[in-house]
Amino acid sequence: MNIFVTRALPETIRKSLTDRGHTLSEWTEKRDLSASELIHNTRDSDALFSIGKNQIDKHFLAARPNLRVIALCSVGYDNVDVAEATRLGVPIGNTPGVLSKATADTAFLLMQNVARKAFHNHKEILRGHWGFFDPMADLGIELQGKTLGIYGLGRIGFELARSCRYAFDMPVIYHNRGHNEAAEQELGARRVSFEELLGQSDVLSVHANLSKETAGIFNRAAFSKMKASAIFINTARGAIHNEADLRQALEEGQIWGAGLDVTHPEPMAPDNPLLEMPNVAILPHIGSATIETRIKMMQLTVENLLAGLAGQQLPYCVNP
Ligand code: DGY
Repeated sequence: MNIFVTRALPETIRKSLTDRGHTLSEWTEKRDLSASELIHNTRDSDALFSIGKNQIDKHFLAARPNLRVIALCSVGYDNVDVAEATRLGVPIGNTPGVLSKATADTAFLLMQNVARKAFHNHKEILRGHWGFFDPMADLGIELQGKTLGIYGLGRIGFELARSCRYAFDMPVIYHNRGHNEAAEQELGARRVSFEELLGQSDVLSVHANLSKETAGIFNRAAFSKMKASAIFINTARGAIHNEADLRQALEEGQIWGAGLDVTHPEPMAPDNPLLEMPNVAILPHIGSATIETRIKMMQLTVENLLAGLAGQQLPYCVNP
């Protein structure tokens, strides 16, 4: 059967599909496909291997309702109209679990980076400002014993909470719809209201899906309830925080700093003022970007594709 892939694949992954008799067609240009290009390129496809931010919306699904499976090489699926795909009987796969540690590690890296102004100090060297030693200049804050707050404690949040608990003995509070029993038992995590999360966190890290409920929830009102010494981290989706409100909160000292692996829109413009702020660290959405994790994500995507093409239930399926 024919599979369209929105990126060039490593040979081992390609082989795991072609060895089973499938034909691959890969998009090799170094840019995302437009909506019409995606429709055009899947005209003879039985399956879509989707890497990157392709919009699998009503328009696409109406044009390609006969795809046997759409396998996303990501855990997030906010780019997909899952309700419409389900109505049309198109199974959607994703890659949960295998990227949790790598993404949590990115949040951990940002947290330490902001606390010690590492990106800023690196830029200062490049600017030729490594000179006179001033013992009170550019000081950071210590993380030992500080309270970690997690917004959306699932697999990724759990990994971050565990790292922070063991590295810095940080007590963990979280805000979720339900209880996370494992985090409560293993890490002594405490479930709190959203207001308490804002008011009590020294580091507040976002690990929720983007949805109608979470879009823009970290706005001016939310930042104004946080501690002036707090660090805000987002490695989930950029649209969960309001960028203008975040910038204002940083400029007015409502919070201490911010670390972002996700922005809205992406890519962030290179002249965005946040990039020059000393208490801000920004990465270009590299949460899962390790060799090991990306290969595992692709392997799970292959598992989903093979199941879908064989008419079987996807092992990692987002349709309800
Ligand atoms: C994911 O897997 O959702 C990552 O954020 C990459 O998009």
